[in-house]
Amino acid sequence: MYQKFNNRLAGQTAIVTGSSSGIGSAVALALAKEGANLVINYSRDEAGANKIVDAINSDDLAGTAIALHADVSKEDQVQEMFKKSIEHFGTIDILVNNAGLQRDFAVQDMSLADWQMVIDINLTGQFLCAREAIREFLKRGPRPEVSVATGKIICMSSVHEVIPWGGHVNYAASKGGVMMLMKSMAQELGSKKIRINSIAPGAIKTPINTHAWDTPAAETELLKLIPYNRVGEATDIGAVAAWLASDESDYIHGTTIFVDGGMTLYPGFYGNG
Ligand code: BGC
Repeated sequence: MYQKFNNRLAGQTAIVTGSSSGIGSAVALALAKEGANLVINYSRDEAGANKIVDAINSDDLAGTAIALHADVSKEDQVQEMFKKSIEHFGTIDILVNNAGLQRDFAVQDMSLADWQMVIDINLTGQFLCAREAIREFLKRGPRPEVSVATGKIICMSSVHEVIPWGGHVNYAASKGGVMMLMKSMAQELGSKKIRINSIAPGAIKTPINTHAWDTPAAETELLKLIPYNRVGEATDIGAVAAWLASDESDYIHGTTIFVDGGMTLYPGFYGNG
């Protein structure tokens, strides 16, 4: 069903958090297509996770997949997920810190619970998962037979790590935090050959932002923010994640790759300002 590519991740195991739908599932499928084993993590959508697992396992791919539940904001659940993953596949080579959500309100209407939930899942969740992955990478050491790097972490950020986003201050703050978490971990762990980067998607057609593209009027408005003049697809992110997890991008460390059709070019300034 999914065309095999170059087996660039053969023999490696990846955990993709929040991969029961949207960008996470596209990333998981892209890594599987490259030969990786996959842990499909979910917090609520078990059926969605099982569908991705079945798609990977029923295809003629080098790796296999399992679904594991964990709310990434809960330390014990994250540790249990890593324990089970390592028991099942032997080790972890790649972590894609993808799980994230939005709870959008004007600042004056935002409850502490709505602020906290977004920070807990989008930022603390990335810390908790990265910490477990780093512990495993340091404990096991290099695996030169599969990769030049001892381990790789990809943080799913957003254009809103740099573009302020009124009406979404919890989300934008979480992604700004992800940027400095990623960069600081990369500075700290580069000498251990743990390679850490972010992908910053722009507007990608997923359940998180359906209202922004599912009518012609909404899509026309959205396209004003995208110089390349199309809304992104989850597969656009999957393709970049597969390459960023592979040795082809071995010298890329501590940076954010924007995959946004030019949204960060601030197109409102064209002919203005
Ligand atoms: C958000 C989407 C939004 C996009 C561009 C993403 O990080 O989750 O809802 O459409 O940024 O603004």
